[in-house]
Amino acid sequence: MKKLYRNMRLFTAVDNGRALAGAEQGKISELKNASMLVSNGVVERVGAEDEVTKGICGRDISFEKDFGGACVIPGFVDPHTHICFAKRREDEFGMRLAGLPYLEILARGGGILSSVNAVKETDEEELFRRSERTVLAALSKGTTTIEIKSGYGLDTEAELKMLRVIERISKETPLTVAPTFMGAHAVPPEYKSDPDKFVDEILIKEMLPKVKAQGIARFCDVFCEEGVFSVEQSRRLLKAAAAMGFKLKIHADEVNDLGGAGLAAELHTTSAEHLLAASEEHLKAMGEAGTIAVLLPATAYSLKKPYANGRNIVDWNVPVAIATDCNPGSCFCESMPFVFGLAVMKMNMTVDEALTASTLNAAYAIGLADKVGSLQPGKQADFLVLDGETPVALAYHAGSTSVMEVYKLGEKVA
Ligand code: NIG
Ligand code: FE
Repeated sequence: MKKLYRNMRLFTAVDNGRALAGAEQGKISELKNASMLVSNGVVERVGAEDEVTKGICGRDISFEKDFGGACVIPGFVDPHTHICFAKRREDEFGMRLAGLPYLEILARGGGILSSVNAVKETDEEELFRRSERTVLAALSKGTTTIEIKSGYGLDTEAELKMLRVIERISKETPLTVAPTFMGAHAVPPEYKSDPDKFVDEILIKEMLPKVKAQGIARFCDVFCEEGVFSVEQSRRLLKAAAAMGFKLKIHADEVNDLGGAGLAAELHTTSAEHLLAASEEHLKAMGEAGTIAVLLPATAYSLKKPYANGRNIVDWNVPVAIATDCNPGSCFCESMPFVFGLAVMKMNMTVDEALTASTLNAAYAIGLADKVGSLQPGKQADFLVLDGETPVALAYHAGSTSVMEVYKLGEKVA
């Protein structure tokens, strides 16, 4: 049986086989009076009503809804989160507001390491319950597909536990989930004097094969940053991961320009994330390599750092995606509408560029563009009904969410 959604003002990026870059990133298709025919949760046809219903027998349509001309966009794809965590870190936020730098908190054994302790102390059921709550908050704000990283385990057992919880989120919530292995999120205190040993003996020799055998994670990510993992260590890990069939991501040049963006281009990683401090040369090399820049403006907001220059990065022909980075430390934000507003207001991207960045390019950044990211035949019927005439509302109506209704696989879920 089929469902027919009628009378929508529909905005979507158009997928022609690759992430959109440069002027293409700002090209959005707008269809007034659009209809969408959905079959088994997948878009079968979309366009003018008479074309959409041509040859379809009324008896085959089990459900019909008229949206009264409301603005509809694809569901948001959030391509970078650490949303599986056991405890909030409000105390640390207070320390940061008082002037203590984020990396200094980590160097003192807090930050990511405090989240690692919390995950170790929390049983799997409870970790699932707490993570699910934040994931459902993201869904209510329009996120229908989400990437979730491990990385608050840092020993093999705890990393595998996190990935099992991430898989459960994928099975027991309406969202589509892209699981990423990020055992290289911080150097555990017991390896502080010999981080190479952690990279070579633990991450590469022990964790990668076990994570591969577990079969949940599709991507491998690393925090390439001063005092965390060097470019050389990141290169060794990512090459080993690629050889085992993982797709690659990298946290690059978030605080310092270490050259992570250059490494991303060299290894043709699917994406490089953060990039607040990345150099023009390395960003342009990423564009040539086809590596997607995943920008996280809510993290710049929360860390009180200058925003990545989204405007230039788009103009340099790098495909740009945007994400929340939702995590208990550097950025406790699960709201894609907030990130959308920051992209427009603080990174000087156009509304159309931000729409591509939060849907189609985000889907490419997590390898799921064949299923989600735009409203076209063959893709999942994941869409949002907005309060407003156009997607401009997402930036215009500050501090509110303009997302009124959320549909996943053609069903209303929030
Ligand atoms: O993307 N930069 C490294 N990882 C996260 C922060 C994780 C945390 O502080 O818990 C990020 O900002
Ligand atoms: Fe991150």
